[in-house]
Amino acid sequence: MRLMNRKSSQLKNKINLINLVTSNSPNSRISEEYRTIRTNFLGSVDGRKTQSLIVTSPNHNEGKSTTAANLAISLTQLGKKVLLIDADLRRPKLFSAFNIGNSLGLSSVLTGENRLEDAIKNTEIKGLDLLPSGPTLANAADLLGSILMKTLIETATNQYDMVLVDTPPVLEFADVKIFSDYCDGVILVIRYGKTESNDLIQAKKLLSDSSKLVGVILNNKR
Ligand SMILES: Nc1ncnc2c1ncn2[C@@H]1O[C@H](COP(=O)(O)OP(=O)(O)OP(=O)(O)O)[C@@H](O)[C@H]1O
Ligand SMILES: [Mg+2]
Repeated sequence: MRLMNRKSSQLKNKINLINLVTSNSPNSRISEEYRTIRTNFLGSVDGRKTQSLIVTSPNHNEGKSTTAANLAISLTQLGKKVLLIDADLRRPKLFSAFNIGNSLGLSSVLTGENRLEDAIKNTEIKGLDLLPSGPTLANAADLLGSILMKTLIETATNQYDMVLVDTPPVLEFADVKIFSDYCDGVILVIRYGKTESNDLIQAKKLLSDSSKLVGVILNNKR
């Protein structure tokens, strides 16, 4: 799917913003496509417990954050209570997309500086809370695979209908694979014209090992 024309796309890329199209233009064709993905996803997991879902991609800039945010919004439009977690501790984007401060967040909860309930913030979207990434840490990538993340996801799924986690690229950070074991399902995003087929095969292989891959989203298809 294509969210913008070329000019506005270039502008967005420059300032690195995420387009919350499902909130800004809920009746657009693109929002409809996100609803289709949501419906397909909910249909494909019926019966199985799939409350926590990670969104990843083989490499950078393939649309993980955009997909995670818009999928989370479209789930709230079904009346679900959703927590979106920005677990990309190196290139966090969701705090700015939702206009939320980033001084407390996942990193400060994992290091024990804050309590989870203090770091989670309400967004302007009804039913959607965000756990921003928090301040950047030197050992950020290692924290994702830590057992503390497992506990955090368990706590979050007790409080929300759905927990969606935006992560770093799976081919670049081995901890994404470890972290996927703590969640119920994985969505793999690939970008039209960017993701190399070998990288897709490699990423799918890595993730399929855990049998949690619920779907692959082709982003930015014209
Ligand atoms: N379908 C799309 N149409 C147009 N622009 C898009 C689309 N999807 C993503 N973008 C733009 O591409 C850039 C990268 O998207 P995004 O931040 O969602 O990717 P990412 O995989 O999370 O990147 P990173 O690896 O930096 O975390 C952003 O500027 C975003 O607005
Ligand atoms: Mg991202």
